[in-house]
Amino acid sequence: MNLSVATNRYTLSAVKEMELLSQGIKDSISLAQGIPTCDTPNIIKDAAIRAINDGLVAAYSPPQGLPLIRQKIARKLKENGQNYDWQDEIFITAGASEAIAAALRGLISPDKNQIILSSPSYAGYRSMVYSAGAIAHYVPLVYPEWSLDISALRASVSEHTAAILLAHPNNPTGSIFSKQELLTIIELAEKYDFYIISDEVYSDLILDNIEFISPASLSKERVIRIHSFSKSFAMTGWRVAYMHGQKELMKRILPAHDAIITCAPVVSQYAAIAALDNYDHLTALMRQMLKKHRNVACSQLEIAPNDNDYPQAAYFIFLPTPKINQDFAKKILKDTGISTVPGSAFGPTCSNFIRICFGRDIEQVKLGCGKIKKYIDEF
Ligand SMILES: Cc1ncc(COP(=O)(O)O)c(C=O)c1O
Repeated sequence: MNLSVATNRYTLSAVKEMELLSQGIKDSISLAQGIPTCDTPNIIKDAAIRAINDGLVAAYSPPQGLPLIRQKIARKLKENGQNYDWQDEIFITAGASEAIAAALRGLISPDKNQIILSSPSYAGYRSMVYSAGAIAHYVPLVYPEWSLDISALRASVSEHTAAILLAHPNNPTGSIFSKQELLTIIELAEKYDFYIISDEVYSDLILDNIEFISPASLSKERVIRIHSFSKSFAMTGWRVAYMHGQKELMKRILPAHDAIITCAPVVSQYAAIAALDNYDHLTALMRQMLKKHRNVACSQLEIAPNDNDYPQAAYFIFLPTPKINQDFAKKILKDTGISTVPGSAFGPTCSNFIRICFGRDIEQVKLGCGKIKKYIDEF
């Protein structure tokens, strides 16, 4: 199998395609796109309203973001043993998506333009890599543990590799990379002079008591860490996230960030400050809610907590499906009215899976997962 994908056109992500398809079907249930059903907490909304009424949001902020939010993030990172200078090592971005776009543009050059992605990984990455003018090269994760195929990784990296882009925890599998895997990636990054973009948008949504290590805590030199307010605080529509890395690297990324967005939405930066001020409480509530949803989804699908398909983070189940020569997710949608995402959206090695989002309305999760289980059992 050729795992190199030099994409030559944009495609609408299969996640959005399935979401749209289900909207056209009467009484359908969408478990496709990763949107939690709950609203942004009031304490965050109120802070945004206050900032608007106080006349604080009309003008651009510095491209790096408001000083106050960067100082708060620097303090939070320091509590976790990570030292970043708020002035030039932390940027506020318009979502993790923009942070990734800026990081890719800052890191690639004409002869260093290959980006390693894991298969599976977040469906949006492929277009992001393409739009940055780079080439995606997939390295498989091995089912059922979704561990990194280290020999494939070693064979894939070269002096043309600019970065490896990791979803950690991963979307769609909810799995996390082990310390040993991260150390191996760092060793290769040092050898071949590439960087690790660690997309940690789900790191507040680890639902079990498992050890999560950010590669940024293992190497400040080689890692750009990205974290978003989108998932932790039900703020996908606010478009606010942050990234941090060592000074020289961030200096390369700043012009790209400035060219793409000028600055993150200022009203959302004020909202994010309130999220930071109430971090532990609000993220605990989100985890509590998602655990409930996971229990409902897994009990309908008959996935036990010790099963490999039982997700430990984020709000997705990546479910193996019967092998057929057509898109199983579309077949499920046509025959049951339940929309999921085909595994192929997440990489070239995943066509016999579907992704189910259990962050959606709990009654719909229950009904949808029950129907999917029955359909697969009777297939
Ligand atoms: C792994 C991953 N990274 C990034 C994003 C986009 O995040 P944001 O809303 O912060 O742009 C998503 C959204 O689903 C995601 O799953």
